[in-house]
Amino acid sequence: TDALKIGIAGLGTVGAALFRAITTRHNLLTEICGREILITAVSARDRSRDRGLNLDGVTWYDDPVVMARDADIDVLVELIGGDADPAHAAAIAALSAGRHLVTANKALLAKHGVELALLAEANGVLLNFEAAVAGGIPVIKAMRESLTGNAVTRIYGILNGTCNYILTRMQRDNLGFAECLAEAQRLGYAEADPTFDIEGDDTAHKLSILTSLAFGTQIAADEVYIEGITNISIDDIHAADELGYRIKLLGVAQRTATGIEQRVHPTMVPKGSMIAQVEGVTNAVTIETDILGELMLSGPGAGGDATASAVLGDIADIAKSRPGHQHAPALGRPADKLEPYQRAQ
Ligand code: HSE
Repeated sequence: TDALKIGIAGLGTVGAALFRAITTRHNLLTEICGREILITAVSARDRSRDRGLNLDGVTWYDDPVVMARDADIDVLVELIGGDADPAHAAAIAALSAGRHLVTANKALLAKHGVELALLAEANGVLLNFEAAVAGGIPVIKAMRESLTGNAVTRIYGILNGTCNYILTRMQRDNLGFAECLAEAQRLGYAEADPTFDIEGDDTAHKLSILTSLAFGTQIAADEVYIEGITNISIDDIHAADELGYRIKLLGVAQRTATGIEQRVHPTMVPKGSMIAQVEGVTNAVTIETDILGELMLSGPGAGGDATASAVLGDIADIAKSRPGHQHAPALGRPADKLEPYQRAQ
């Protein structure tokens, strides 16, 4: 079989980690997937920056949209970020040209996920986005595949590594908010604009994607009630501690008698609960269903390697998929069959 040719758009923390992961385990991946995975093209804003990557033989594009459209690639890996162009335009260009799309971009999916899923399905290609929710945790695969046939009643969790890192360090090490945030940025956990992390928007983006998969509805990120962690002080954390609680930023989606409720806010959780033990950059997702019961997944939620791991799994899935085979729908069911979101009254 021919090699699977990859174009990576965006060479930041995640893009560079992915480049290293693919090139250093080239032989292993070839064995497992039955074909080579080759990075043939890349694009990023600054060509001169030294990322410590050997780009010999890789075609450089200044414009990711041109790469998505014109480059000799089978898969576009979109790691640019943001819900607008060029990320959006590159994604549309790739899918329209019949290329698979792998993205870690939760903001893009929260805003345009249904449009992208429709386009992927119309063009017979895959739209994979494991890395967009809870970093390295395979929660999208669990929702799309493992839990097929289960009716989900509730899904909730810690979906932002930066916030959980800040809350944990404030509580454990008595450090101030700003210092903890700076540390999370230094470790490569935070968004380019960290207000998306601390104001709760990033959690809301991820939650809206999970809601769609859990309840078979259209993504409705605008319907999420959002409150971030910027008003949480060390005093609040100590007061909660004395009462036997930890403060966590949770995203919660549940079916109620009158519709679906989505909310993001700081929450007091009993110290003895499993979710209270989830510390640092670790994320956790709990899914409650009728057949399985309660499932909790936890693991690294942000950072270059954790995110690259999820992207790599998505690429390997494409490499292993057979041409002509009917692909599973991106959002768990065909995008044109998603129900409208019905807000709880
Ligand atoms: N800034 C995000 C976080 C990255 O801290 O969780 C992973 O999506």
